[in-house]
Amino acid sequence: MSTKKPIRKPKKEPKKLKEQELPAVPFKGYLETTQEILRMPTTTADPSIPYKRVDAAYCAQKFAKPPKNVLMLTRDFIHDSLYNPSYGYFSKQALIFSPPTPYPFGELRDSADLLKTIGRQYEEIERELDDVRNIPKQLWHTPTEILKPWYGYSVASHIVKQYKRDVGTGKHSEPLTVFEMGGGNGTLMMNILDYVRDTEPEIYASMEYNLIEISSKLVRHQLSQQTRDRKVPHTNVKIINKSVFEWDEVVDKHCYFVAMEVIDNFAHDVVRYDFDTSEPYQAMVRVYDDGEFEECYERISDPLIRDYLAVRTSLTSPPYKTPAIPSSTYRTLRNWLPLPPNLTKAEFIPTQAFQFCRILSKYFPHHRLVLSDFFTLPDTVPNAVDAPVVQTRFSGAMVPCETYLVQPGWFDIFFPTNFELLSRMYDAVRGGKSRVCTQRQFAKENADLDKTRTRSGENPMLDFYENNKFLLS
Ligand SMILES: C[S@@+](CC[C@H](N)C(=O)[O-])C[C@H]1O[C@@H](n2cnc3c(N)ncnc32)[C@H](O)[C@@H]1O
Repeated sequence: MSTKKPIRKPKKEPKKLKEQELPAVPFKGYLETTQEILRMPTTTADPSIPYKRVDAAYCAQKFAKPPKNVLMLTRDFIHDSLYNPSYGYFSKQALIFSPPTPYPFGELRDSADLLKTIGRQYEEIERELDDVRNIPKQLWHTPTEILKPWYGYSVASHIVKQYKRDVGTGKHSEPLTVFEMGGGNGTLMMNILDYVRDTEPEIYASMEYNLIEISSKLVRHQLSQQTRDRKVPHTNVKIINKSVFEWDEVVDKHCYFVAMEVIDNFAHDVVRYDFDTSEPYQAMVRVYDDGEFEECYERISDPLIRDYLAVRTSLTSPPYKTPAIPSSTYRTLRNWLPLPPNLTKAEFIPTQAFQFCRILSKYFPHHRLVLSDFFTLPDTVPNAVDAPVVQTRFSGAMVPCETYLVQPGWFDIFFPTNFELLSRMYDAVRGGKSRVCTQRQFAKENADLDKTRTRSGENPMLDFYENNKFLLS
């Protein structure tokens, strides 16, 4: 595991997917040019067969296997591929690596020593998984787990400091209330609760902790965490088994909303822009009766895409300029080319993350946010702005793909977050001022760095997860 690219599974050198190495599922290559997408047939399937327009919610209700002869927004296609209860990638198995006991940082020689230990444990678990499962799954690792309990303590320390400041300056006098979205193994929840109980018993006495978790399997795991190895279990916890996108209850008190390593799987839409007018077009994925996929474009009709683009266009000082639209010089030169493409390259836009900002603003009007995730990732889909990584485990190795148009349920699809833009969009939706900082800055401000320093002086709390940032409000 390299500390330079500390993503979920960077141990082995990823190799490019070759057709003959594919699992026995259909796969289609990336459509390189707009020209092809708009004007050329990209599949041998019969385009005259009638198709139905669907969305991810409809697919979740109606289909036990990936549908054919349908048309849907890219966001729905990605969401369905990941979350469909019957065939989605996460409905089968979501595993988050958790070392059996916290690492004894002070006894380790240096970061390399720690990486060696993690690598050994990680490979052992992966080998076991490959032995027992027909569908090999990716094993995630997160800072919460690798740096436990100190990472959770740093988040708790940040929350407690803010809580005391808010109460001290008369902002409110309510008990400390935390909402966490996407709790994984429940480790962060336990570490935050332990920290507050042990360092701030008075605050802990009235504290409430709520966990919003989409996966029922992980909910069971989180419930078992509450009592495991503990003489006195935390009794102030409520675990709610639902997606944050189904949340419909106003929480009318001050609260602290925590979201670690969750939004990278939030589905995006794709837009391209007309070269002459800059008008955006929304991408639709058409699935043919032979399982082939085709991306096609139409005028924006989806309200969420329209609202996202409208809010982004309203940003000032400075206005947001999409990198998908090239300079005016290029656009002039382009007119001299034979058969120039009429749409720009693709841009992935974080429509679900935008929807999440709206949910926070509407249902948690008095929240403060602590959100962390990747801001950059290797091996993203090429030739597109803010593109995802699409990968699966095959023959014991991680295999990245060059398109998201892949068999639903077989691939993880996850996105780097443009934190600076997210912060501006979040502020525009709710009013107020948020800030962005790196993992290192956050750790310097909030972590107990003495406890995570190795003998050489290297500190994984500062040096690992360099590709993570925080959004704080
Ligand atoms: C990569 S894990 C991170 C777990 C944990 N926060 C950590 O840092 O170790 C992502 C978690 O988010 C949950 N999740 C994903 N989408 C969600 C949604 N829409 N609503 C609630 N939970 C969600 C997953 O089931 C999983 O528990």
